[in-house]
Amino acid sequence: MSVTVVVGSQWGDEGKGKIVHFLSEKADIVARYQGGANAGHTVVVGDRTTVLHLLPVGVLWPHVTCIIGAGVVIDPADLMDEIEQLRQAGIDLTGRLLISHQAHLIMPYHKLLDRMTEEKSPREKIGTTGRGIGPAYVDKAARTGIRIVDLLNHNVLRAKLRRNIEEKNLLLSRIYETEQLDEDQIIQEYLEFDEQIDPYVKDVSVYLNDAIQEGKTILLEGAQGTLLDVDAGTYPFVTSSNPTAGGALTGLGIGPRCVDRVIGVMKAYTTRVGLGPFPTELSGELGELFREVGTEFGATTGRPRRCGWFDAVIGRYSARVNGVDAWAVTKLDVLTGVHPLKVCVAYEDGRRTYRHFPAVPHILEACQPVYEDLPGWTENIQNARTFDELPANAKGYLRFIEEITGAPVGIVSVGPDRDMTIVRDAPAQP
Ligand code: GDP
Ligand code: IMO
Ligand code: MG
Repeated sequence: MSVTVVVGSQWGDEGKGKIVHFLSEKADIVARYQGGANAGHTVVVGDRTTVLHLLPVGVLWPHVTCIIGAGVVIDPADLMDEIEQLRQAGIDLTGRLLISHQAHLIMPYHKLLDRMTEEKSPREKIGTTGRGIGPAYVDKAARTGIRIVDLLNHNVLRAKLRRNIEEKNLLLSRIYETEQLDEDQIIQEYLEFDEQIDPYVKDVSVYLNDAIQEGKTILLEGAQGTLLDVDAGTYPFVTSSNPTAGGALTGLGIGPRCVDRVIGVMKAYTTRVGLGPFPTELSGELGELFREVGTEFGATTGRPRRCGWFDAVIGRYSARVNGVDAWAVTKLDVLTGVHPLKVCVAYEDGRRTYRHFPAVPHILEACQPVYEDLPGWTENIQNARTFDELPANAKGYLRFIEEITGAPVGIVSVGPDRDMTIVRDAPAQP
């Protein structure tokens, strides 16, 4: 009987998949509101690991209806592959997957342009996932994008595709001096998605608002994270959508008063995949240790993730821009055996001290983190199921995070499996 946004609070990969899946057990609906197949959300139950890219992780619970909102960019081939993989695993989505007619499509030229822009100017490289996300949102903002609803009208689709392909071919030949797109082949391929996607297409805003009126329990699943947000993040080293909580409203067609709670998912340390500033990054042995113990390799691209100490300046920022009600702190188990634990409480650049995250790469690059040391613990914590079962220093670490970020810790994840989870108080549950 509530609407909860679950938002990434750092640079993505905080463990949103695990937390959303854990909370979905008691939910009626799970909805993705932005991003696309750049996301990789991992769910571990027993010896089975599933990584979802476009579909909400609620698909793994048969009682949950899943929604892909207007704010998501969809590669139809990826979507069909993901649906088919689930079907082969015995999960049928007929009647319980709804896709917004307003969502934009990722076209083959978006992927090509994503690759070309990254290759063309290495100095301006972002380190994208190569899924065509940026170029698809560019077309959306330029008002030339192609939407799910266009798939259902062949004449409109043909006309829009021709116009786009003509323009992209000019770009490819004049700027990137590369291959031309085969117009007929792309048109044929996309015309065929019509029948495959048709059964899922829905006015998602109407459906969700009705469900809210009926008192359903709804989770809004963010992809990426606050610092990858195109407005709030470390621009230009960001993705091209709004992963922050506000994006859930525009991405799904619901009003701000519909949201009851915001849960910020936050790793007990920090990681980043791709380029851009990262004040608490560890380059030496300790960084390697976090990467190894935390298996910090991208769930979508397999790239090693950069690792570093927990950054409370980011935590405070994320609490503010998302209106976080409670944290779900993940991967606390990875810190077992590390002593002392450093927490960044501010930045300084020799002239001034920053307590508020500046979100500007050249400022961040000139800054040094100011650390406070906290004592570590050595006990294995993966079997803890209540807050009180955690070692005193682990509790102290979480209390410090609460104090310095200004938001309470409602959930603690102590291992990848769904069951390795501590729920501390009622407000963090849906
Ligand atoms: P997401 O993109 O935010 O859903 O996160 P990813 O799935 O990309 O990355 C999180 C990784 O950490 C996955 O491999 C999860 O299985 C794993 N994970 C999540 N929570 C925990 C935890 O508490 N402890 C450990 N050791 N691993 C976790
Ligand atoms: P989840 O949902 C971590 C990063 C890329 C790159 C930047 C832009 O699993 O947390 P893009 O392909 O979106 O244009 O890349 O954003 N990035 C992610 N990093 N987790 C993600 O998703 C990410 N999605 C994109 O590495 O730095
Ligand atoms: Mg991920």
